[in-house]
Amino acid sequence: MADIAVVTGASGGIGAAIAKAIAEKAEGQMRLALHYRGNRGAAEALSAELPGSFLIHADLGSDEGRKALLSAVLKEGSPYILINNAGIDKPHEPALMIQESSFDSIIDVNLRTPAFLMRDFGKEMASSGSGVIINVSSILARKALIGSALYRASKAALEELTKQFAAELGPRGVRVNAVAPGFIETAMTASIPEEIRGKIRSEIALGGFGNPGAVAQAVCHLIENEYINGAVIPVDGGMSL
Ligand SMILES: NC(=O)c1ccc[n+]([C@@H]2O[C@H](COP(=O)([O-])OP(=O)(O)OC[C@H]3O[C@@H](n4cnc5c(N)ncnc54)[C@H](OP(=O)(O)O)[C@@H]3O)[C@@H](O)[C@H]2O)c1
Repeated sequence: MADIAVVTGASGGIGAAIAKAIAEKAEGQMRLALHYRGNRGAAEALSAELPGSFLIHADLGSDEGRKALLSAVLKEGSPYILINNAGIDKPHEPALMIQESSFDSIIDVNLRTPAFLMRDFGKEMASSGSGVIINVSSILARKALIGSALYRASKAALEELTKQFAAELGPRGVRVNAVAPGFIETAMTASIPEEIRGKIRSEIALGGFGNPGAVAQAVCHLIENEYINGAVIPVDGGMSL
């Protein structure tokens, strides 16, 4: 059966760019599993561009959704790449306003889901002796921005999980790394008001928001480089300096 590269949140800006970049590098040697939740139109349009790819619909805020994703992939082949990209950053609540419901939804999608997908896909990869997992973190794992307390906590914990899985899965032939994008032009950042965008831009050494293709390039490097394990690569134009 074919090797599969799974991209969660392929219907979003960064996920679509990662899926396209992997497909280009794989030159038909690997099938892309394109996961989406609500935006079927974007996922279908992407799939039409990538021959051999297939769509998986799942809400990754739930255990059923995670199980559905795994079983849909296993029906088609053996997972070799997992990109934990699906994520949410809203609601934006100042620290003294955080809500339990926001805690649940942000932690479920951004932390619980990658944790258990790493466990379940990691078992499959370890049993075949090879695989690559990449988690999409954020510059906000290490930076205070009002309204991002829960998002920050979810991504900081995701980076620690990345390192732990890298240490435990490395000996089984599976590498685990992360990318930490800065501000990238996607639906997630589209609603930032111009006044705040200006302030953010002033903190970016390269002067502006990045494009999803830059994150995808870093992901491809982490897939290809056989001696990087447990790393978190910033893709932020120097904003974290
Ligand atoms: N854009 C940035 O500046 C930036 C910076 C740092 C890190 N990131 C991270 O990069 C990743 C991708 O973000 P993006 O900018 O590409 O955002 P986006 O365009 O809003 O895409 C988010 C993706 O996550 C999926 N998703 C959301 N909730 C889900 C759920 N409950 N179950 C399953 N899938 C769900 C969405 O699926 P549907 O649309 O189909 O519902 C969509 O495919 C996220 O992890 C984000 O935290 C982004």
